[in-house]
Amino acid sequence: MSFQEISPSDFFYRNRDLAGFSNPSRALYSALRELVENSLDACDSYGILPDIYVKITQADNSANDIREYELSVQDNGIGMPDDKIPMALGKVFYGTKFGLKQARGTFGMGATMSVLYAQITTNKPVSIDSSQDGVNYSHYELFIDIERNKPIIINHSITEASGWRGTRVRMNLVGDYMRSAAKVKEYIKRVAIVTPYANILFVDPAGEVYMYRRTTTVIPPAPVEVKPHPKGVDLEMVRRMVRVWKKGNMINFLTKNFHRVGKKTALSFLQYAGIDPNTDPRSLTHEDLVKLESALRNYDKFLPPDASCLSPIGRELLMEGIRKELNPEFNEALTRTPLSYEGYPFIVEVAVSYENRDGGMRLFRYANRIPLLYDEGNDVAYRVLNEEIDWKRYHLTPDDPITVITHICSTKVPYKTMGKEYVADRPEVEREIRNALRIVLRFLSIFINRRSRMEVVKKKQNMYRKYLPLIAKFSSDLAEKGMPDVNRLISMGEEEVEVQERVDGQQA
Ligand SMILES: Nc1ncnc2c1ncn2[C@@H]1O[C@H](COP(=O)(O)OP(=O)(O)OP(=O)(O)O)[C@@H](O)[C@H]1O
Ligand SMILES: [Mg+2]
Repeated sequence: MSFQEISPSDFFYRNRDLAGFSNPSRALYSALRELVENSLDACDSYGILPDIYVKITQADNSANDIREYELSVQDNGIGMPDDKIPMALGKVFYGTKFGLKQARGTFGMGATMSVLYAQITTNKPVSIDSSQDGVNYSHYELFIDIERNKPIIINHSITEASGWRGTRVRMNLVGDYMRSAAKVKEYIKRVAIVTPYANILFVDPAGEVYMYRRTTTVIPPAPVEVKPHPKGVDLEMVRRMVRVWKKGNMINFLTKNFHRVGKKTALSFLQYAGIDPNTDPRSLTHEDLVKLESALRNYDKFLPPDASCLSPIGRELLMEGIRKELNPEFNEALTRTPLSYEGYPFIVEVAVSYENRDGGMRLFRYANRIPLLYDEGNDVAYRVLNEEIDWKRYHLTPDDPITVITHICSTKVPYKTMGKEYVADRPEVEREIRNALRIVLRFLSIFINRRSRMEVVKKKQNMYRKYLPLIAKFSSDLAEKGMPDVNRLISMGEEEVEVQERVDGQQA
């Protein structure tokens, strides 16, 4: 028997499926979305209106569907410091998004995973240009040393940026655009729906251009980083806090390290936990730490986490995105008040849109503003929609042209895989989605009701308009009298429509 150790890069190299790189079509889609999500994070988390340019070009002359492509994603975001670029793109589990604040990225491996996949399929380095100040930009070409989980720099230069600020990542990878085209285009469109403040330009391998223009300059307020909530800690976290603790008693320790714990709360918690407030945290034994951690999780008088670390899209922007991309006859959106699970705050947003199109109900799922396109059947939102909503109650059927949008934002979205494709059914999240959906569906059903009533009235009116003159002519001929004025009767029908509209307007 021989023991071996593998690096995180090696682990993901061997288990590519975990991160969504299971085959050439899925891998092209995943690489593109990882880069786009990084670009958007680099813009809107810092209040920058995103301009994102995505391009896929064929990089060989092969006639196969599975071939080499160059993928390039450019943004106008905050850029990266010169010395951090190699690690950011060339080391798994290295990033700036591990803090408690909502971002699309969470794991510190999305871009690196794409680089890793590109490298093993084409043996070409990734190319990165990035500028933070618009004065200079750094250019890097990198490989990843998979066994050591660190970047190998092939080329590095610093050049004048002449005003350009942002990041551009280019990589060559084996993909299957034929098979991923539908998903890639759908992904970009769905990004555009929840990011109406972004310009997104996508050029596909055939040179076809897809342009999504911003229709608003309003960006959701950027989230702020918070300390961990006492209900969200585990033993390892407490141990680390103690290890780096410099000076102070238990009261200082609790108020300094935890979110929403003031002196009063700290004192009553310590009494509950049976720990002397004057204890030096560094003197706690292993058993004390176990006791402390369990008390932190079980004490039920902590204030709930506040939601400043979250950044929901908000009703107005959600409505705007739907109007802009789905051209609905009716739409409504709702942002619920923040709640929490296990010390992590979360907010659910939902929207419905009724469109003039063929085809039935669609579900667009999002988590931290990322569209989730795969594994729909496993997602909590799918279950709620299909198992817990009584469509008849809302005068709807699954064949109606409705789009339902669900968005979960949290510092800890309960993804089931690193590929970020579906969200686990946590009862708290499930309940929120269900309640929110019921509210927006009620609005939709009022619209549907009104619409069908209006249709009846309009049909009646059309009939008057068509037959009344004929009947009038027939009767007057029969009676050998002059034609009466039928226009008066027709306009009475129009009045009926107006009154109906007014009544409905008031009811709504
Ligand atoms: N376009 C970009 N602009 C600025 N910084 C970037 C950009 N792309 C990547 N980075 C930096 O590189 C880090 C690593 O990116 P990577 O995608 O590997 O991980 P992540 O986004 O933190 O998490 P996730 O694995 O969930 O995507 C990011 O945390 C960010 O600091
Ligand atoms: Mg990322």
